[in-house]
Amino acid sequence: MKKFVLRNGEVASVLGLLKADVYVDNGVIVKVSSDVGKAGKSDFEEIDCSSKVVMPGVIDVHVHFREPGEAYKEDFETGSAAAVWGGVTTVFDMPNNKPPTSSIAALKAKRKLIAGRSFCNYGFYILFDGNNIEEINRASGICGVKVYCAHSTGNMGVFENSLEKAFKEIRRDKVLVFHSEDENCIEENKKAYLAEFEGREVPASVHSKIRDGKCALMMTQKLCELAKKYKRPIHIAHVSTDAEMDLIEQYREFGVTCEVTPHHLVFADDDYEYFGNLIKVNPPIRERSDIFGLWKHLKMGNIDLIASDHAPHALVEKELPYVDAPAGIAGVQTMLPIFLNSVNDEGLSFGELVRFCCALPAEIFGLKSKGKIEEGYDADIVVVDMEKEKTFRREDVLSKCGFSPYVGNLYKGWPVKIFVGGELVCDEGKIIGKKVGKEVF
Ligand code: DOR
Ligand code: ZN
Repeated sequence: MKKFVLRNGEVASVLGLLKADVYVDNGVIVKVSSDVGKAGKSDFEEIDCSSKVVMPGVIDVHVHFREPGEAYKEDFETGSAAAVWGGVTTVFDMPNNKPPTSSIAALKAKRKLIAGRSFCNYGFYILFDGNNIEEINRASGICGVKVYCAHSTGNMGVFENSLEKAFKEIRRDKVLVFHSEDENCIEENKKAYLAEFEGREVPASVHSKIRDGKCALMMTQKLCELAKKYKRPIHIAHVSTDAEMDLIEQYREFGVTCEVTPHHLVFADDDYEYFGNLIKVNPPIRERSDIFGLWKHLKMGNIDLIASDHAPHALVEKELPYVDAPAGIAGVQTMLPIFLNSVNDEGLSFGELVRFCCALPAEIFGLKSKGKIEEGYDADIVVVDMEKEKTFRREDVLSKCGFSPYVGNLYKGWPVKIFVGGELVCDEGKIIGKKVGKEVF
């Protein structure tokens, strides 16, 4: 593998930017030198990064790359190409597959299926289905255990009485990740709202009423209480309301961590009129006041990390009537550009960006050699041009679904070179490298 030095760039860390040269040898960062440009003779290939930012590759702990079983929506080749194009160098893939990844045999089959086919690094979740604790406890090399408290794509919600079992019986070295919505609450709302539309077409906006903020808050409260009772850290996926964040704040001491998605920070329920089912997602898009609340909590450092919840579906499926259309938004490709644009707007600092997208995902999920540009860390590196302005176009969409609600948006600040394990995989918007992604656990 090549030796190279990223010369003259500004290196991003949780503390902000510092001018330094980054030396890479055999897929590992071997030196970060603030003695810029002064290394003298060396056999490292020079890559000029003047006026660029050199940041750690983004670690997206929440994607659905749809294999096995639904490769017509996405597969690991297209999903991981979209990821690296957008500066994501490691993904954790969800287990709501067909068949679900809920056993050691299913994990083994998934590993075999994906090996050698990913541009980015990856980890796999195992699903808690209410009855597979023994399998989970014997599983090794997983990034965590996914628990759906309500039905979503794949109908994998578990009954409330099994939730407590997860806290009690799943080995403590496994990270528990929850989809936090209350199924009974959703069912009751559904009856009431759908009855209103007897015989008429139901608009997509009803989704936010059926799966309302109260259903999410109710379950988040139960999960936080269980974390306290069993003194067991938990991670709550895609928190969507200000009220949940206020609540989570009171349970931080019990090890409750959480993530927020780009779509919950960008879209509000008045966007249904334009986007319809394209922004149907679970948990749903909320009110504008929640966007404000989530940004407030992000700025206060209360939200641990940002994850895309990249959940592509075929356009023909999204074009079905509301009740039949699947929930999910493809977002792995646009996550970093959206927040680089925020850095340019001074909504976020580089330090915050690195913390939410790189350092904390690595820390919470135990990735010891990723998430930082430091000596000894893996060379998963993104070179960013903060001056580059570009509109995200439909032809840029690499996800197999071929569409995105972010198409047409102009962003300033783009990843231009993406290295995975020291290999240049994407250069100036073109996938040029090989499928060098490795399983990370
Ligand atoms: O909107 C969603 N889509 N939420 C989920 O929980 C699952 C995901 C999917 O897999 O489509
Ligand atoms: Zn998801």
